[in-house]
Amino acid sequence: MAVTITDETLVHAKDVTKVYQTGEVETYALRGIDMEVKAGDFMAIVGPSGSGKTTLLNLIGALDAVTGGSLEVLGKDISKMSRRQRADLRLHALGFVFQAYNLFPVLTAQENVEFVLELQGVNNNRSGRAREVLDRLGLLEYANRRPTQMSGGQQQRVAVARAVASQPRLVLADEPTANLDGENARILLDMMRDLNENQGTTFIFSTHDPRVVAYARRVVTLVDGKVAKDVVKENDTDGGV
Ligand SMILES: Nc1ncnc2c1ncn2[C@@H]1O[C@H](COP(=O)(O)OP(=O)(O)OP(=O)(O)O)[C@@H](O)[C@H]1O
Ligand SMILES: [Mg+2]
Repeated sequence: MAVTITDETLVHAKDVTKVYQTGEVETYALRGIDMEVKAGDFMAIVGPSGSGKTTLLNLIGALDAVTGGSLEVLGKDISKMSRRQRADLRLHALGFVFQAYNLFPVLTAQENVEFVLELQGVNNNRSGRAREVLDRLGLLEYANRRPTQMSGGQQQRVAVARAVASQPRLVLADEPTANLDGENARILLDMMRDLNENQGTTFIFSTHDPRVVAYARRVVTLVDGKVAKDVVKENDTDGGV
């Protein structure tokens, strides 16, 4: 277990609340979240359906605004950032493995990775860099395939490759192993953990799957929009998938 959790705080939530307004109806999705995530963390967010996991990941990812409290991501209060600054943060410092950010169906695996590099303003040797990332993650053989030509597990792995192509500090993954069988879930998690241990990439992922939870070094349980438990495992094992 090579990874060291540093003292650098990547996410600092203080009494964060989120209320969704749908017509006349208000939904209290988060009711006061206090949480700190350090660089090097490999953290699962668990909890019942509707407990606020996706909402919290969306807020940390600067995809949505907090209703109350403060949320600092990489040392900056995201509610004080402009749209442009939030877009820059997402593009350059964060990686996403979200259902809503699926692979582009008309692009091959390699082109999916290249596209993100292009958005990031990488101008030289995008294809070489994309292939390097795919290779590092054992995905080179799928470089020229479109999503429909790959299994769900392979697609999810390409989604992780795309998320980490620019070496973001923090990767947010919303149920990354949903719809994957045990074997594919294990391969995906091994890949994420390898990036965590060897590149120091910090991961926050939500899950319903106890086998995935077994991989996490830290498990935060949400219940009704609050942190009900926050457990750091003392003696980490290699996971149970
Ligand atoms: N855009 C939205 N508009 C209104 N209410 C929303 C919206 N998104 C989420 N909610 C509500 O906020 C609460 C938290 O939802 P959230 O999606 O964060 O839960 P979750 O823990 O991710 O659930 P699941 O495990 O089912 O994915 C739920 O009551 C949900 O109905
Ligand atoms: Mg969710």
